[in-house]
Amino acid sequence: MKRFSILLLAAMLGCAGAPSPAKVSKSWGISGTEALVAADHALASKAGAEILAKGGNAVDAAVATSFALAVTRPQSAGLGGGGFMLIKPAGKKAVVLDYREEAPSGSRAAAYLDDKGEVIKGKTQTGVWAVGVPGHVRGVLHALREYGSMSRADVMAPAIRLAEKGFSVDAHMQRSMRNIVSRAKKHALDKALYDEIARTFLKDGKPYEIGDILRRPQFAKTLRLIAKKGESVFYEGEIGEAIVATIQDAGGPMTKKDLAQYRVKVREPLRGMYRGYEVLGMPPPSSGGACVVQVLQVLDGYPRGSLSLPEYYAVLAEAMKHAFADRAASLGDADVHPGVKKDVAQMISTVHADTVRAAFVKGKTFPPKHYGLTALKDDHGTTHYSVMDKAGNAVAATETVNTYFGSLVLASGTGIVLNNELDDFSIRTDVANVFGLMMSKRNVIRPGQRPLSSMSPTLLLKNGEVVLAAGGSGGPRIISATLQAIVQIIEFGRLPDEAVAFGRIHHQWSPNKIYAEKRLLPEARTLLEKSGHVVVDLPETREAATQVVYRKGNRLYAACDPRKGGKPAGR
Ligand code: GLY
Repeated sequence: MKRFSILLLAAMLGCAGAPSPAKVSKSWGISGTEALVAADHALASKAGAEILAKGGNAVDAAVATSFALAVTRPQSAGLGGGGFMLIKPAGKKAVVLDYREEAPSGSRAAAYLDDKGEVIKGKTQTGVWAVGVPGHVRGVLHALREYGSMSRADVMAPAIRLAEKGFSVDAHMQRSMRNIVSRAKKHALDKALYDEIARTFLKDGKPYEIGDILRRPQFAKTLRLIAKKGESVFYEGEIGEAIVATIQDAGGPMTKKDLAQYRVKVREPLRGMYRGYEVLGMPPPSSGGACVVQVLQVLDGYPRGSLSLPEYYAVLAEAMKHAFADRAASLGDADVHPGVKKDVAQMISTVHADTVRAAFVKGKTFPPKHYGLTALKDDHGTTHYSVMDKAGNAVAATETVNTYFGSLVLASGTGIVLNNELDDFSIRTDVANVFGLMMSKRNVIRPGQRPLSSMSPTLLLKNGEVVLAAGGSGGPRIISATLQAIVQIIEFGRLPDEAVAFGRIHHQWSPNKIYAEKRLLPEARTLLEKSGHVVVDLPETREAATQVVYRKGNRLYAACDPRKGGKPAGR
């Protein structure tokens, strides 16, 4: 009888006296108590979860996820690209791995200008002159060596299996396959290069149907070679030779020496505070951390609960305009332009957050000149994954080949998609763009420099340990989407499944428009319009996608953005 009463009481309290765990209600979210992976492809999350189930830690799982994404999301990221990984080992200092692509030694701004000095359309986007020296393989294998616990062969096994067995084509992949056809035509891609990508990713010259199985045997062979021989086969061996031969045969500038000299850079994360959490963000060559920390610190100055949801969007829009204007004015690769460091420190200072907040006028927005004088580029590729394990290890990593299928160049015979990251550089600074604005000199292409990025892997810490890992894909919208996922969780108390799906806005200051998703709260849209914003619908094809893992009490919650179709995994 006594036992029954205790059980009844426990049932009334939820479970054994503990409050019942918050419920995940959406199919793109899960919760667990051990370890979770959120990647923007379900099979990539599963690859990470498989490694966790075999006793791997969050970094082992992250590396397995990364290789699986290289198979299933070749339009977004992979061995021919680069990325940033923010790692917080339990009980130890957080670290950032920068494996961003670099401009090859033979690249120079003049190569992208015609006889009249005009920028040659498409040359930084499509074909061999668009390709930066890839950092992905060195980056993830560095993470595995320094912070993982399993062998290369173990963590690469799920990706190799996926490449061999194949996986079904989803809506995102089909859309990006369509882009191969249209962009190759628009930018007159060399026929031999087109034939290689068409053979690999098109069926009779057309995109696959959704649900068709895509197998990648050639890429499986490449992965097996790396699993066996390590990164040297990529940077100094037969894979590297295929990359350089493909580029040089088509007249491009990358050399064997460029590849052999490529190094991962280990950096300190940027740090800020938001609602009592320490925020760790990505330093240059990304603008992501500077913008995310700056905006969160502006929002932090408003007392909790003092802003309604529509008012929060209005403040967010102003904070984003300032952050993007600051970004465009002065950011670039701090290793080449040391002044960038000082400007970033200023961007993430609380003094600057106070100044931005003080400039906010309720019910009003200002013309672009009020915020800054330079301009910003746009893109829409990239992938992000977040992983947290029971021991407290956490990873937030964002990787990219830049736009869909990067440069559309495949390293001959390898299945590797080569990036078009050189499009993240500026080519000219002396001519105003269509908005009458100028570009920052610090992001002009030069050999060895890493192009400015928007990628924003972010960790939130409480008492020195990670409670939230987030980030996203979608060009400059990565910054706004990551910010909004964090704010929906921390400020408005939503679990990740609801937070990642919530209607978002994006203002990048130039152009002077606010992009609103169709699902945005109508009251927020009305308030923004009344404040003088030009509100335009964000096309679904340009929506960002965020992947989040969050620790609440002793449970983990993970969600993959429904806009891209990923699903988390783990237990
Ligand atoms: N290419 C996407 C980014 O780095 O922001």
